Amino acid sequence: RLASVSTAPPDSILGLTEAFLADTNPNKMNLSVGVYKDASGKTPILECVKEAERRLIDDESTKGYLGIDGLPAYREHVRQLVFGDRVEADRIAVLQSPGGTGALRVASDFLVTQLSPIRIWMSSPTWANHPAIFNAAGLPSDTYRYLGSDRTSFDVDAMIEDLDTKTSPGDAILLHACCHNPTGIDPTPDQWKQIAETVAMRQLLPLIDFAYQGFGDGLTEDTLGLYTLLDAVDEAIVCTSFSKNFGLYSERVGAVCLIAADAGAMKASQSQLKAIVRSNYSNPPRHGGAIVATVLDDAKLTDQWKGEVEQMRQRITRLRTDFVTTMKTTGQGHDFSFLLPQRGMFSFSGLTPMQVDQLKQKHGIYIVGSGRINVAGMSEEKMQQLCDAVAAVLES
Ligand code: LMR
Repeated sequence: RLASVSTAPPDSILGLTEAFLADTNPNKMNLSVGVYKDASGKTPILECVKEAERRLIDDESTKGYLGIDGLPAYREHVRQLVFGDRVEADRIAVLQSPGGTGALRVASDFLVTQLSPIRIWMSSPTWANHPAIFNAAGLPSDTYRYLGSDRTSFDVDAMIEDLDTKTSPGDAILLHACCHNPTGIDPTPDQWKQIAETVAMRQLLPLIDFAYQGFGDGLTEDTLGLYTLLDAVDEAIVCTSFSKNFGLYSERVGAVCLIAADAGAMKASQSQLKAIVRSNYSNPPRHGGAIVATVLDDAKLTDQWKGEVEQMRQRITRLRTDFVTTMKTTGQGHDFSFLLPQRGMFSFSGLTPMQVDQLKQKHGIYIVGSGRINVAGMSEEKMQQLCDAVAAVLES
């Protein structure tokens, strides 16, 4: 029977890391998956996380199962961090999930089982795993335009036109709260208002992917788009992740947060979300959630964490600027200044799939096929080598 199984294509992001690890080029560089690296090329464990783990070793008293929705202290911190006092607490259900991907899958299963027929609208482009998750859940999806014809700026009019003319009331819409993946191009505050008005008018249910809080303009600043939406609608689902801003990638720690119009509707939806989790992975793992709760329970550790997020954010901004400046010195002539307003870990370089392939084959430099570069993986030390290679593929 298994002889009939065909081979799946490699994952368009994580598959590149597999290929990178197998590459024998001594100068190879992995700028594909969205993982932060420090100046020495390592993905560090944050100091606040190390301290929290030390405390957990001493104080943790059980490895017994968590509830289906996770660690209560963790859930409460997620609620405060993401929503502050913007939404009444009794309208929000927070379920701890295995990373942002786990949250998106639970949310997708919820949409399919509770709100069908429903279709979800995604930006074109979006993170490659979004359509994969929706497909796996059996959630029909379609796309709205996001980029202008120059592929370097956000075309809000095109997006609104698509929402106005293509969506049906009751459809869901996927939005990236900040640090749009893969483009790094976010709406301005005024554009968020336009989007929020359209979402409300078209009666769309927002599914908001909030995986990069703190990497755009700051932990609080990055809630602007989300809050603008929440001012306009009374129902939404928000999927969050601590992979990036706590550096807890492999601990798989995120949350699915559902906002309902009132406490009664929240409770009913919460019970359905729990039923979905139970038949999927039963209940979430403890360690990552316990780390986050330990840090956010302690004012000093929380300050330390905010400082560490800010350091990562500023380093990424510096690297993006360095890249643009160093590209100028190659004399190749292609101006990358359009990258400067981009936010978050990624930059959408405009390199074609062929140029991306040449970067890999000739220079051992791995970026995602869409031309997305993980700026957070660049280093000062290898900046010249990277820019020389980009200049070479632009010329060939
Ligand atoms: C990315 O886009 O590189 C990250 O979100 C990691 C992943 O799982 O793809």
